[in-house]
Amino acid sequence: MTGPALALRGPAFAFRHNPFDGDPDGALIHWPDALVVMRDGRIAAIGDHAAERPRHPDDLPVHHYPDGIIGPGFVDTHVHYPQLEMTGAYGETLLDWLTRYTYPTEAGFADPAHCARIAALFLQALLRAGTTTAAVYCTVHEHSADALFAEADRLGLRLIAGKVLMDRNAPPELRDGEDHGIPATRRLIGRWHGRGRLLYAITPRFAPACTDAALEAAGRLWHENPGTYVQTHLCETEDEIAWVRELFPSAPSYLDVYARAGLAGPRAVMGHAVHVTEGDLSALRGTGCGVAHCPSSNLFLGSGLFRLHDATAAGVRVGLGSDVGAGTGLSTLRTLGDAYKVARLRGARLHPVQAFWLATRGGAAALRLEDRIGNLAAGLEADLVVLDPRATPELALRTGRSPGLADTLFALTALGDERAVRATYVAGRLVHDRDGAGCPGEGAALSGPHPPRA
Ligand code: GUN
Ligand code: ZN
Repeated sequence: MTGPALALRGPAFAFRHNPFDGDPDGALIHWPDALVVMRDGRIAAIGDHAAERPRHPDDLPVHHYPDGIIGPGFVDTHVHYPQLEMTGAYGETLLDWLTRYTYPTEAGFADPAHCARIAALFLQALLRAGTTTAAVYCTVHEHSADALFAEADRLGLRLIAGKVLMDRNAPPELRDGEDHGIPATRRLIGRWHGRGRLLYAITPRFAPACTDAALEAAGRLWHENPGTYVQTHLCETEDEIAWVRELFPSAPSYLDVYARAGLAGPRAVMGHAVHVTEGDLSALRGTGCGVAHCPSSNLFLGSGLFRLHDATAAGVRVGLGSDVGAGTGLSTLRTLGDAYKVARLRGARLHPVQAFWLATRGGAAALRLEDRIGNLAAGLEADLVVLDPRATPELALRTGRSPGLADTLFALTALGDERAVRATYVAGRLVHDRDGAGCPGEGAALSGPHPPRA
């Protein structure tokens, strides 16, 4: 059965191949005037407007963005929804930041009403940032994951999330009991994994907060539930790595603590991986783990400088993570601006096509979802963002001088934020319209269900 279609018209881009493999400019497909037809949650057709329009009925509703740039929705591969309210906490490095700010904030999620309120705020903020898929950490509380999944389901988002597992080195009220949080995780998988567009991530917070028994139980649960994910933190700071060495003296490396518990493999997403060795990179590649590069967080906490180009050259699947609340915001454009600066401090250059790849298709590949999201192509799920390169006077001034699309995209990462996200579409539906009712139809009225506005 096919439902009503909706189309977007305007300049658009997609990816031909991975811009980290060869010429980045050549990886970009650019339609100066595209038509993207969406039906039943998927992209039904995409092509040059002049060629594509006659293939579709005259009464096809079209949202026209002649001054926008239509692209794949952003993929945030690492973010903590409970930390939204403590973003920008002053003065600490990771371990003290966790103790002083993060754990007390997460303790507030013992209240289900608080979970529901923050989950709704968080997802609306994601959509305002143009992010249509995220891999999200909840708190240790089972209902913190229920709240997020319920709201994501209502919005039709493709979302990966999980209840955090931690059974040591955390305040008592945030610790799993003797069952290591496994029964709660099992119940959550049963309730949410594969429902609509939702996917479950088994989420041991990081090795220092988990006993060997908890890690092993998490690994067993993962293997009992094919298609589920693992997400955790890896080699974020030097202090943390030294602590892991003390806590797991027999493990040859931090990554090995996870690998020996069966927690490395395709659909395992390691956050940060800042201080990894060549051996770690080849093990990440060999096991098929994804890595979430979180440049804003790494700068904010002073954690270090991720070796992006070494990781991609080693064949590791790398996506971008905001890592709110250590990252300072959910804007993927701003996170990309920070990724560029981190690369510069490493003596490298992050090309804008590589940057947008990281934030879309690269993230999808890190999450093993590249056959569903992360690009504009017929058959993929219709999650799209419409960017506005003239969103502010400064952007207009800057992009007015752009010689081409790649430079305009670069300017968006250097100067842009949520203000440059004109609209966000999820599964073919408009879910964020920056300008309210001003969505420009091509003579046709805005059609389709209108979810509540942010
Ligand atoms: N390592 C363990 N927990 C966290 C967290 O909440 N944020 C970051 N950035 N690192 C972590
Ligand atoms: Zn994190």
